[in-house]
Order: sequence, then structure tokens, then C-alpha cells
Amino acid sequence: MIRVAFVGKGGAGKSTIAGTFARLLARRGQPVLALDSDPMPGLPYSLGVGVDDHPIPDDVVVPGPEGGPRWVLRPDLDADDIVDRYTAPCPDGVRYLQFGNLWGPVVRLQQAQHAWSQVVAELDRDAWHLVGDLPGGTRQAMFGWAKYADTVCVVVEPTVKSMHTAKRLLTLSGAKWGPARLVLVVNKARNGSDAARVSERLGLEAAAAVPHDSAAGRADRRGAAPLDSAPQGALARSVDGLVDHVVSLYGLSEEVAQ
Ligand SMILES: Nc1ncnc2c1ncn2[C@@H]1O[C@H](COP(=O)(O)OP(=O)(O)OP(=O)(O)O)[C@@H](O)[C@H]1O
Ligand SMILES: [Mg+2]
Repeated sequence: MIRVAFVGKGGAGKSTIAGTFARLLARRGQPVLALDSDPMPGLPYSLGVGVDDHPIPDDVVVPGPEGGPRWVLRPDLDADDIVDRYTAPCPDGVRYLQFGNLWGPVVRLQQAQHAWSQVVAELDRDAWHLVGDLPGGTRQAMFGWAKYADTVCVVVEPTVKSMHTAKRLLTLSGAKWGPARLVLVVNKARNGSDAARVSERLGLEAAAAVPHDSAAGRADRRGAAPLDSAPQGALARSVDGLVDHVVSLYGLSEEVAQ
């Protein structure tokens, strides 16, 4: 099964591309679990469900054992139970699992985060394709928040600052838990030379160059998903090409045909 996570500088387009990717993969008849580990979630919008403030509730955890994690799932619950009960249904059959968000007491966020991490670690590997979205920047990615993924897509805008962040993120392959594959995705490309310039600067060929799509930008102002507002738009078509590419990396091209 595919296990992919999207990282990159804040605003590069991680959530937009991750949500679109998850739905397009699900449209190929595949079970897809969208994993949001951003405490300020952006992924529900591109999945097409709008704001979702329903993290895993704090009463699913109990204090962990001495020397172990601070919180663990209640003994009567397992990862499948949590997915059944606390994921949001999205268009195209995608299920959405939220990490936890910060409204007040930090302890509640920590409880939801521990539950989320345990669920992701204990999920049946054959049940779901995982498509994850990380918070912007390098911190969480470097701290292993995407270690469930064996493919990490570094999303980069053709700007100097975004490329600087991407350059650091590309060192993730050297991390102990590092992903098997790093895939470069240039987003908001305005002309043919943008992708070439980014690839040259980062020393890695781009697997996809997603064009700047003003329809997607306009939809975002309304909180609408690109796939719903511009289903045949440039962004959707380009992300579908990225799905093809990732599917081929896993040798699944025949099984996961369009
Ligand atoms: N290809 C594109 N063309 C035009 N606008 C885009 C494109 N991709 C993303 N955007 C716009 O860029 C903005 C940031 O996108 P998004 O929220 O997906 O970024 P992000 O990397 O997830 O940000 P954050 O780090 O805050 O989570 C949004 O307004 C979105 O509509
Ligand atoms: Mg985001």
C-alpha cells in the first residue's frame, strides 16, 4: 500500500496537493486514509469537507505505563476501532483522521496526539493507503512526524525561500527513520522554466510541476476543494499525473489503473 506524506514550507501547497491526491487515488477504487498532523488543519478543505474540528476525543486514552508513552489507547480500543468511529467520511470515499487541535489546555492536544500516533503506528498495513499532510516548515518533518510514510513528497514553490526549506527537507533521507523515497513536487509553476530552475537548484528532478491555477486560489477563498470547483482544472490534472507517478513507484500501475 502507498504511504506518502507531504512536507514543505508554509503555504507551499501541501494541503491542497495532499487532499487532491487522496481523492484522486480513492477514485481509482482504492481505500484511502488521509492523515492530518497539522494542529491547524488545512487538509479538510482540499478533501472537500470544509472545516473539521473533531480530533480523536481525549477519553480514548489512559495514562501510559511507567517508562512508556504518557498516554496510550484504552485497552478496549484498537486502531481499527478509532478509524471506524473517529474518521470523517469525505467525497470519493476518503476517510480523514485529524491529529488534534489547540483550543485551550495543551494536555488535551497531547492526548489526541498520542492516540493519533498510536493509531497510525498500529494500523493494518494492508487496509489503507495513507496520504499525510504535515505542518509547514522543517521542524515536525525532521522530528519524525512522517515516519509512517515510505515516500515523502517535498512540495516547493519556485521562490528562493521555499527552495531553501526544501533543500533542508531533502536531507531527510539521511534520518534514522528516513523515507525510502523523496519526491520533489514543484507547485504554483508559472512557466516551463520554473520546474527546471527548482530541479537544478535542488539537484533532483521534479516528479510533477503543478501549475499555478488561479481557479484553485479563488476556490480557496470560499473554502472549496479544487476538485469540486475545477475538476478538470490544471491543478487536478497535474496532481493526477503525480498519483500515476507514485503508483508506479510502488509497482501498482496495473492494479491501480485509472
Ligand atoms: N497550484 C496552485 N495554484 C494556485 N494557488 C494554489 C496552488 N496550490 C496552492 N494554492 C494556494 O496557496 C495557498 C496555500 O495552499 P495550502 O494551504 O495548500 O498550503 P500549505 O503548504 O498546506 O500551507 P500551510 O503550511 O499553512 O499548511 C492556498 O491559498 C491555496 O489555494
Ligand atoms: Mg497545510
